[in-house]
Amino acid sequence: MYRTTSCNSLRTEHIGQSVTLAGWINSRRDHGGVIFVDLRDREGLTQVVFRPEDFPKLASVLIDHAAEAATTSKGIDLEKAYSDPLMTSGLNIDEREWEKARALRSEDVISVTGRVAPRLQGTENAKIETGEIEIIASELRVLNKADVPPFPLDDPSVNEDLRLQYRYLDLRTAHMQRNIKLRHRVVKATRDYLDEQGFLEIETPVLSNPTPEGARDFLVPSRLNPGTFYALPQAPQQYKQLLQVAGLEKYFQIARCFRDEDLRADRQPEFTQIDVEASFITDVEIQTLIEGLLSRIFKESRGVDIPVPFPRMTYADAMNRYGSDKPDTRFAIELVELTDIFTASTFKVFASVASGGGTIKAINAKGAAALLSKEQLKKWEEWVKTEFGAKGLAYIKWSVGGEWESPIVKFFSDAEKKALAERMGFAEGDVLFFGADAKLEPVCEILGRVRLRCAELLGLLAEKKDQLNFLWVVDFPLLAFSPEDNHWVAVHHPFTRPKAEDVPAMEAGDYGKVRAVAYDVVLNGVELGGGSIRIHERELQAKLFEVLGVNAEEQQIKFGHILKAFSFGAPPHGGIALGLDRLVMLITGASSIREVIAFPKNNRGCDLMTSSPVEVDFKQLREVYIQSTAKKL
Ligand code: AMO
Ligand code: AMP
Repeated sequence: MYRTTSCNSLRTEHIGQSVTLAGWINSRRDHGGVIFVDLRDREGLTQVVFRPEDFPKLASVLIDHAAEAATTSKGIDLEKAYSDPLMTSGLNIDEREWEKARALRSEDVISVTGRVAPRLQGTENAKIETGEIEIIASELRVLNKADVPPFPLDDPSVNEDLRLQYRYLDLRTAHMQRNIKLRHRVVKATRDYLDEQGFLEIETPVLSNPTPEGARDFLVPSRLNPGTFYALPQAPQQYKQLLQVAGLEKYFQIARCFRDEDLRADRQPEFTQIDVEASFITDVEIQTLIEGLLSRIFKESRGVDIPVPFPRMTYADAMNRYGSDKPDTRFAIELVELTDIFTASTFKVFASVASGGGTIKAINAKGAAALLSKEQLKKWEEWVKTEFGAKGLAYIKWSVGGEWESPIVKFFSDAEKKALAERMGFAEGDVLFFGADAKLEPVCEILGRVRLRCAELLGLLAEKKDQLNFLWVVDFPLLAFSPEDNHWVAVHHPFTRPKAEDVPAMEAGDYGKVRAVAYDVVLNGVELGGGSIRIHERELQAKLFEVLGVNAEEQQIKFGHILKAFSFGAPPHGGIALGLDRLVMLITGASSIREVIAFPKNNRGCDLMTSSPVEVDFKQLREVYIQSTAKKL
């Protein structure tokens, strides 16, 4: 037996028992002839003490000779010691054992037998759960030696690339083990809950056809069908709807999804969704189901009760008040409409925007004046211009005891100043930021970004780490006009249902006015998931494809299967998908989803451990009828 118990199980009530533990050397200290080792396994740490006098006199020790042979090339040179005739005659087995203990190094793998003993008074360690006891070792088996790790495990400053290159070592650290275990808890709670709610877990193909979710596809060439390709699913969207047509009624899947898009802290090219779809269900019923699921998940993984139902906010409100479709409502700064104040302003930019039907809004960063110099304000302006294509970022800074400082305030009349100050609650110490544009969306989006940066600057979230602001954002627009493609695109995806009251607007071609029965669940400013009630009628689906610029012929090629399926009695249905990685990231408080994925890609889409993706040889390419790989520039 390698072990009789785990490294996190022994307490004072076990004192006197003989136990065997197995694991890795977390640390080793040599205190003048006595060796202390913190032995680590998945569950925790136990201190083991090697004292020369505690080793039994004879070879009751189980030494695996092969392992020992491997052992000898590392650390202390036992091989040499054993083959040295002087040593051989001089060493008895216990001394050899003792030498093995002395030779232990971090990350060596051992199995050790000993007696549970109380720690000496004053040497207890309250930081670990086994901190009141230690093991007095009597037998040691070195199962494998370890090279010196390329970085100190559990050093938070280690470069991430190095961690990813040696991910199997990085995963040994306490915080990664905690994240991976918590992820398991979340998946387990999900399966249990959805099973209790009558949902069936059904797998859908990974080699499939493209399904539009707004990203690029990963393509896989088919050897058996020359010249054709599978696409890895961006989401199991069409399959889960087809399972509703199939009468399975309640589906879920812990589904792997693949999207070839630019990566960020909360995006991976392959990620996991908690994917849900049901028949004969309304939007509110789906939202209630998901509130129940998230309650269960947070209870089981973090031990907290989250208040349900979550507040609901329309997309229009979210954009107007917070400048984001995933507002972080943990802090109060809101966008304020000012257009009416400046219709007759002598500041040309504002006057022309206001009189031309555009929008002027501002936010008040209370107390930011002391934190923002003129140079910094200039930098903020550069930032919104280069990153978000803003036309400018007018501001007014009011230092305590000072005047209004601003590049634009000289243009304002007294009445404008008064109205502005009143509406904004502008006071000494504050900074106002303005956005003005002919279109509403850019004003909101840009001030939404500035709003988040203000919160960061003012430390508004510092004490809100544990606050959980869940929110449903509802009534998304169904369609958005894409100037690059010069046609309308689906905001969620093309299978999303228009709101019944907006169908006349759709029929009238007033596409910008049509809202969808679509909803996102947001937590602390992160989009956790999104879903919708679907179109289940063939005609309506075909009409929507048409609006999206997919002509009848293309519809047949790309979506013929789902259109046909809808003509065989498709039930009304809808669903949602939650980003599992993002959810676990938020539960653990990690700053990136890479921290909660065992083997993630870096931000260039590479797995630094296996060096994936790799070039393949010509023969392999020929087998799938591909002529050559792109030449490196
Ligand atoms: P959507 O595209 O909104 O909806 O995706 C649902 C959720 O998946 C997560 N997510 C990601 N997580 C990590 N990396 C990514 N690259 C990534 N992309 C998305 C987000 C997001 O909210 N089929 C629809 C769902 C439906 O209508 O039922 C869909 O996939 O948390
Ligand atoms: P200008 O008159 O272009 O020199 O701009 C004066 C100030 O107004 C600068 O601080 C600009 O950043 C700002 N500004 C100009 N256009 C806009 C706009 N559309 N929205 C917000 N601020 C603007």
